[in-house]
Amino acid sequence: MPIDHADRPDLVTRDVGRAVAVLRAGGLVAMPTETVYGLAADAEQPDAVRRIFEVKGRPVDHPLIVHLPLDAARRVDLDGWASGAPPAARVLAATCWPGPLTMLVPRGPRTSDVVTGGRPTVGIRVPSHPLTQLLLAQFGGGVAAPSANRFGRVSPTTALHVVDDIGDLLDVERDVVLDGGPSGIGVESTIVDLTVDPPQVLRAGAITAEQIAALVESEVAPVSGPARASGMLDAHYQPACRVTLASDRRAAHAAANAARAHGRRVGLLDRTHDLPTAARELYADLRRADAQGLDELVVVLPAPRGIGVAIRDRLGKAAAR
Ligand code: TXA
Ligand code: MG
Repeated sequence: MPIDHADRPDLVTRDVGRAVAVLRAGGLVAMPTETVYGLAADAEQPDAVRRIFEVKGRPVDHPLIVHLPLDAARRVDLDGWASGAPPAARVLAATCWPGPLTMLVPRGPRTSDVVTGGRPTVGIRVPSHPLTQLLLAQFGGGVAAPSANRFGRVSPTTALHVVDDIGDLLDVERDVVLDGGPSGIGVESTIVDLTVDPPQVLRAGAITAEQIAALVESEVAPVSGPARASGMLDAHYQPACRVTLASDRRAAHAAANAARAHGRRVGLLDRTHDLPTAARELYADLRRADAQGLDELVVVLPAPRGIGVAIRDRLGKAAAR
């Protein structure tokens, strides 16, 4: 049975001030973003950051993204977190932030080894969710955060998903889940590596490689096998049920009928007519398949355009065994 919000009124809050106090005291805040919920700690308190890895069950060499606030002039202060960020970083910061874009840049002195797993680069992003903007602005520093799910599982897009996944591992005395409603985009941010020339997209998201290329007026390498961000394992974003991919509706029905003939409980998912909704609902759809006790979910793949690229990527990982 999924835990209901009502079971954890102590852990879930809409009070930003309480969340800021938790960050300052070295606790964990599950925070809403426009992509997915993140599990945040003060990026400058190594012990707090280490607890993120414990709660997630994530290997400590998988680096975390640093989330930064905008200042009063609605500018982001990269100084300290990054060093020698290339001109493309400034262009993308001015046009895409706040928003679903993470940039990999050379790290600066404020960025610790716990956050980057000892790498010379750091992933930085400014999320646009209003509650989290407020949280970051009031906190005033950077917070390190991965998605707020157990390692290898489907990312959370509601506070309830977070409670379901890690509620039992959080401590009501020192941690909190900040409820900002369902994430509007629903898939993780685009990651672009600006330390290579040309820049390379390491993870597809709502902001496409074509959009980035137009903004930085340069070629941008699309996601490719070996250069993908560390920690991007093939078997990621997995529900418990088997996920089968189909190229169109007809193929999906054939696959579903074949599975039924083997006595399996099968669901069919086709949101290809509305890709923003497909992305927003993707992880909730995968969780629902498990909650319904399905053995197999057959999913129609969207065309590889716009956010369809990101949806195909996540579905490919959900289907990998
Ligand atoms: O939308 C998002 O990006 C969400 C929200 C919470 O901001 N965060 C998120 O974080 O998806 P996470 O940790 O689940 O995925 C970030 C990916 C990981 O695969 C990590 O290995 C990679 O980014 N990454 C982060 N910093 C990196 C670095 N310095 N070098 C290479 N890969 C990095
Ligand atoms: Mg993740």
